[in-house]
Amino acid sequence: MEQPLSISQPTEATAQLRCISCGATPASATQDFRCANCGDLVEFVFPGRTFDPLTLKSVWLTRKASCHKLDQSGVWRFRELLPHIPEEHAITLREGNTPLYDLPRCARIAGLDTLQAKHQGLNPTASFKDTGMTVAASSAHQGGFRWVACASTGNTSASMAAYAARGNMHNLVLIPEGKISWGKLSQSLDYGALTCQLRTDFDGCVRILNELVRRKPVYLLNSVNPYRIEGQKTAAIELLEQLKWDPPDHIIVPGGNLGNSSAIGKALLEMRELKLISRLPRLSIIQAQGANPFYRSVREFGGTKLEPMTADTQATAIRIGNPASWKKALRVLRATGGEVEQVTELEIAEAKAEIGADGIGCEPASAVTLAGLKKLLRRGFVKQSETAVLILTGHLLKDPDFTIKFHRGDLFPRTPDAFQTAQIGPLQRAPVVLDADLAAVIAALDAAESRNS
Ligand code: F0G
Repeated sequence: MEQPLSISQPTEATAQLRCISCGATPASATQDFRCANCGDLVEFVFPGRTFDPLTLKSVWLTRKASCHKLDQSGVWRFRELLPHIPEEHAITLREGNTPLYDLPRCARIAGLDTLQAKHQGLNPTASFKDTGMTVAASSAHQGGFRWVACASTGNTSASMAAYAARGNMHNLVLIPEGKISWGKLSQSLDYGALTCQLRTDFDGCVRILNELVRRKPVYLLNSVNPYRIEGQKTAAIELLEQLKWDPPDHIIVPGGNLGNSSAIGKALLEMRELKLISRLPRLSIIQAQGANPFYRSVREFGGTKLEPMTADTQATAIRIGNPASWKKALRVLRATGGEVEQVTELEIAEAKAEIGADGIGCEPASAVTLAGLKKLLRRGFVKQSETAVLILTGHLLKDPDFTIKFHRGDLFPRTPDAFQTAQIGPLQRAPVVLDADLAAVIAALDAAESRNS
């Protein structure tokens, strides 16, 4: 059997858990991944870790030609920056390896010279969650757990169910009833999860799950699990590799439970510390206006506190009112000099159609990045000549219902007004129903041509 490629320097990172608030360094994690002293979240740190940056970069590139499962994964390829997990426990679907696309139309619309998007929706279960799930599910396997569990707005559950199935572990999904898309629900069913639709919202599901893990030996796979954050770091590492280690001026991410922004920010800080990059991109976080507790925390309270809220947005993936990782996100926002922004439902729908019209597509929660970027440009925080990368977190087909309603004009039934029609009307492409008649099809073609010319 082919061996994975290793380097001559120590490949086993000596990872240590540390509380983000009181700095305690427990030898092992609690069931809910909170500090036993102060109750805040824990993270991994790597005391004394040093690498020759050029060697690291070249080993990572060499692995692309290897057929070994760890080298073929766009997460485990960067394993020197992850906590060590023995190979026999690694559960991988060859996640990561996602493309970096140019978005020329979106750049023009936003008023930027260039714009790129890293499409994390092209992971095995069609969202960015797979990059963290491969590492965290592997750690559950290493710990010998029979059951893993998560609360989810749909993507974490789809991802967890797939990785649990691959690792022969049972898995419990808690999702808010009626508030997740069919695409995501169908994934967890097909991958064999015990799927419980609770009559509450995401935050209510989290509360129940936190109680459950104290009573039952189930392994928690939400993004409070620091292994998730470590795996999700690799999106930023892979992005920088794709950019030949020349950092963009801005990286823009959606903010829900705030695990992803924390992970990408952590990766940027670690890469600078290890001299893989020489300067930091600014990491900006965008929330839906109806689910904006972090935006309000930063803008109204200077980050001193976060007031939980009842969240509401059609971007159901980020319908979250009490984000667990807000302190981690705040830290990286500050450290990279990024900004927060909020966007309306109309702005999200418009941006999603614009990304679609570039031939890329994404789910609504991902589109907040473009909508937010436009606002950051208008405010002068992002300049026309600067480089920016959007992190698109989920695939277009995760939520076809939203897309069809948008194009049919059914997304905002209660508020049709002239402004809205002018803004999104030109982007709408409702299907045309015709008789099976050549003349009718030719007439539709001619009408479309005259609209386009
Ligand atoms: N985009 C998509 C498509 C998501 O599914 C999520 C989160 C986010 C953005 C926000 O990321 O929570 O790390 O800030 N979805 C979670 C879930 C909560 O359960 O699938 P975050």
